[in-house]
Amino acid sequence: MRTTNGKIIECKNVWKIYNEGTAAEVRALQGINLEIFEKDFVAIQGVSGSGKSTLLHCIGCLDTPTRGKVYIENEDISKMNEDELALIRREKIGFVFQFFNIISSLTALQNVELPMIFSGLDGTKRKKKARELLEKVGLGGRLKHKPSELSGGEAQRVAIARALANDPILMMADEPTGNLDSSSGKEVINIFNTLNSEGRTVVIITHDPSITKCAKRKIKIKDGKIVG
Ligand SMILES: Nc1ncnc2c1ncn2[C@@H]1O[C@H](COP(=O)(O)OP(=O)(O)OP(=O)(O)O)[C@@H](O)[C@H]1O
Ligand SMILES: [Mg+2]
Repeated sequence: MRTTNGKIIECKNVWKIYNEGTAAEVRALQGINLEIFEKDFVAIQGVSGSGKSTLLHCIGCLDTPTRGKVYIENEDISKMNEDELALIRREKIGFVFQFFNIISSLTALQNVELPMIFSGLDGTKRKKKARELLEKVGLGGRLKHKPSELSGGEAQRVAIARALANDPILMMADEPTGNLDSSSGKEVINIFNTLNSEGRTVVIITHDPSITKCAKRKIKIKDGKIVG
């Protein structure tokens, strides 16, 4: 058993430099130091291009830093290959995107089942859990709907249910209400709030003042550095 003292994420002097050494070089992250603890609700803010998504991708195992270390539950992920990162993502992280990224040919239920197929859960258990998760996000009446038959807010709630499928220790979202009207946005915010009050760690990039209001911690990024 690893002891983490409740620390879920640690970034130590993390740099992300795109196209390093070329004329197109971008220093997207410049020496980020950050700790995120169990049950945190962190809002990441900053202007467009400041490095928010890059940071979320580095701590969410969607990308690795150019330099520095990222630890998830004390495990160094900075030098992992794509297969190793995929495994950590599947086991530990639920990711929600601005444009939902759910699969248009699958029903709501099948979309939520998908991560559980990859992790090898049998059909009956998988369907039961997918149904429960969709009920949890208020979509018990939409199990058989395809994404084109759902509103934006409903599609995003399917994405949240899918992100929860493998019981992640960490829920991350990049502008989850950025593409929603205010009332659908509120429903999505309420779900993240509930998840956090149930003990789930939440990290959200947002410009939405109603999300930042719910957050226990706010982190501001400017030019790839944490400035507050
Ligand atoms: N794959 C990439 N290759 C090269 N440069 C990139 C790449 N991804 C991002 N960048 C650059 O890195 C910087 C940080 O980008 P990032 O997407 O992290 O910003 P952001 O804060 O999420 O912005 P937004 O609010 O617009 O989503 C930007 O200058 C961007 O142009
Ligand atoms: Mg972004």
